[in-house]
Amino acid sequence: MFNKGERKKITILGSTGSIGKSALDIIRTFPDHLKVIGLATHSNVTEIRKQIIEFQPQYVGIFDEKVAIEITNEFPQITVLAGKEGIIELATKEVDILLCAIVGASGLHPILKGIEYNRNIAIANKEPIVMAGGLITSKAKKYSTKLIPVDSEHSAIFQCLMGNKKNDVRTIYLTASGGPFYRKPTEELEFVTPEEAINHPTWKMGKKISIDSATLMNKGLEIIEAMWLFDLQENQIEVLIHPQSIVHGLVEFKDGSILAQLGPTDMKIPIMFSFTYPDRAPVPLKRLDIHTLSAITFETPNLTKFPCLRIAKEVAKTGGLAPTVLNASNEVAVQAFCDRKIKFTQIYDVVAKTLEEFDFSNYHYNLDTILEIDKLTRVKSANIIEKISQQK
Ligand SMILES: NC(=O)c1ccc[n+]([C@@H]2O[C@H](COP(=O)([O-])OP(=O)(O)OC[C@H]3O[C@@H](n4cnc5c(N)ncnc54)[C@H](OP(=O)(O)O)[C@@H]3O)[C@@H](O)[C@H]2O)c1
Repeated sequence: MFNKGERKKITILGSTGSIGKSALDIIRTFPDHLKVIGLATHSNVTEIRKQIIEFQPQYVGIFDEKVAIEITNEFPQITVLAGKEGIIELATKEVDILLCAIVGASGLHPILKGIEYNRNIAIANKEPIVMAGGLITSKAKKYSTKLIPVDSEHSAIFQCLMGNKKNDVRTIYLTASGGPFYRKPTEELEFVTPEEAINHPTWKMGKKISIDSATLMNKGLEIIEAMWLFDLQENQIEVLIHPQSIVHGLVEFKDGSILAQLGPTDMKIPIMFSFTYPDRAPVPLKRLDIHTLSAITFETPNLTKFPCLRIAKEVAKTGGLAPTVLNASNEVAVQAFCDRKIKFTQIYDVVAKTLEEFDFSNYHYNLDTILEIDKLTRVKSANIIEKISQQK
């Protein structure tokens, strides 16, 4: 619950996206307890305009400089922070919770800045953790900044670990619905369209994560995310296909006990928990009716049919800068699939070829090299995509 008279101040980076809008729904439900301080978007002028009018933020971050000028002229009473630097500056503004819900690696600098300013960070944006998890977590430790997971599986694990000792953990299990193509014959996968890939069976999410869910790369990214957030080894994390999306995560302890977190497939629940942690508030959502649950099933993922998960597991084991390459290459490949330059199955080909061809073994792990590797990977993957699309 919220304390009497308490009004938590919140900034949402990525407020016009799927997570951002769900977060604003929650704030709309608890206007006496939650207050928007800042909002940030890449360039969605229509949505940010509506959000400014409804939530009256003090600050708005807009990546696109032209849109920033438009909004500055329209709303002279608010402070508009423009461009990449503007989004980073927004992360320094005083709040109780900084919700990081930007998609992709662009969220890295705002997250690092938020950590430096000791904001409580509700973290949905998984790509920066995959790309630079060592950096983010060591910085969070240095500044005693709390990172509260928002990804449903990680929120589940986080909740199962509350009151338990990390040393008692044997294995954690991240569940996956399997996405829209889990039962589709393998030979049909190369013909699926971006529209079909985005149509997730159980979750309504942004474009990138929906496609990652369809390739199962999302679960691979989540393994790396979990390694950093919970300080675990790759061999302590397993993935289970669970088509009902009711159990979001499980923790097996060394005495054989397993704790699980269950809930409706609605991101508002983990978002809300990140706002109220360690307390809970009554979210007015349809409850999970335990009486009518006829089956909860789990199976081992098919890594031959979904090689993106296999390669991500290998990368998780390799560690170092390999996840940085995996993340950047996957971002570029997913975009190329959306632009119809490559087939669905070629997302894996691009990532695998990039990892194979790119010798990053001589680089040390620090912010500069992470950024350089990220940049070089994107160029390399774009070249591979170019070659693939010429072969069509
Ligand atoms: N959606 C889910 O259910 C879910 C679940 C778990 C984890 N996540 C993770 O949460 C993150 C967000 O996912 P999503 O599905 O909400 O994505 P989304 O719907 O695509 O939204 C992304 C948001 O980030 C903004 N944005 C993109 N680049 C930006 C930049 N450089 N500067 C400022 N804002 C920028 C976008 O603005 P525009 O609207 O202007 O493009 C939009 O508001 C991802 O990392 C995803 O993996 C999502």
